[in-house]
Amino acid sequence: MIVLGIETSCDETAVAIVDEARTRRADLVLSQTALHRPFGGIVPELAARAHLDHLEPMVGEALQQAGVTLAAVDAIAATVGPGLIGGLLVGATTAKAMALASGKPFVAVNHLEGHALSARLDPGLDFPYLLLLVSGGHCQLLIVEGVGRYVRLGTTIDDAIGEAFDKTAKLLGLPYPGGPAIESLALHGDARRFRLPRPLAGRPGCDFSFAGLKTAVRILVEGFGPAGPGTGDAADIAAGFQAACADVLADRAAHAMALARARLPGIAALVVAGGVAANRALRTRLEAVASAEGFALVAPPPRLCTDNAAMIAWAGLERFRLGHTDGLDIAARPRWPLDPAAPPAPGAGVKA
Ligand code: KG4
Ligand code: ZN
Repeated sequence: MIVLGIETSCDETAVAIVDEARTRRADLVLSQTALHRPFGGIVPELAARAHLDHLEPMVGEALQQAGVTLAAVDAIAATVGPGLIGGLLVGATTAKAMALASGKPFVAVNHLEGHALSARLDPGLDFPYLLLLVSGGHCQLLIVEGVGRYVRLGTTIDDAIGEAFDKTAKLLGLPYPGGPAIESLALHGDARRFRLPRPLAGRPGCDFSFAGLKTAVRILVEGFGPAGPGTGDAADIAAGFQAACADVLADRAAHAMALARARLPGIAALVVAGGVAANRALRTRLEAVASAEGFALVAPPPRLCTDNAAMIAWAGLERFRLGHTDGLDIAARPRWPLDPAAPPAPGAGVKA
């Protein structure tokens, strides 16, 4: 079984072809970071236009790289939500047109399900497991029981964690995306010099909040006057901010592991995915807390953690082999929670 997948929900144009043996026969990702950098964040209109410019040639390139024709593909999958509507429309419409022209089935994929199932593509994990999804658009803890079966234990009530990294970086005059810049600056900083808040840590439940932390950083930076903090001060702020994030993630993940174990006694893996999972300091901290709770920390390879189409093709394959296909009339949707029973999260920057 071979599935072609398309991902255009944010600022990566991606096309991949995967098979049932978990081989990524093609895995193309074109990042738009350079396009958006001058604006300090993603400009939805520019993103949609860039997806439109690049997607079609990338589909051809992926087929060529995989050494297959469209006729040999069993299904065509695309992200239809959640995400930026312009980009979603480009990807979904292209995939639907290909399905119509080739007579192949279409599989509509939830971007979050792509992240959730990526650990089954590589390293090939079995159900069930706990997922901590930490990216520019999301910060969630979910029990992954099976394909299409998710229990959301917690989500951010305001900003996503990646957004907090990006905004803190901007305050410190660092380039977009801010996560990698904060991580390298923090290596030279003293995390104990500035004590920043740990929102919701120690509280019941597994929700996250980053707005107060971001505000605390802003007030701290403003305290340095118009010239702003010097390089050493900025490094201390970056280290303090990252330490606060690590404490919050560790606290919330520990609660989630206890809750997950109460529900499913055999659950033993904590998967961390999303762009922020690239952060080594956060990972080390999560490894420690997971091992204290008797869980193994599992991180898909970095390329599968950040947005990509291999996870979309794989989620499409998992759905398709269970008999799920979708009509070409299915609409792209900016919001699409994985666990419809979970109460909607309030606040800005929350896509699900
Ligand atoms: O998953 P991703 O590539 O895109 C989506 O948001 O879906 O995640 C991008 C986010 C950005 O906010 C970026 O600053 C953050 O991941 N990020 C990091 C690191 N690398 C990327 N955050 C902290 N530390 C990093 N090393
Ligand atoms: Zn993502």
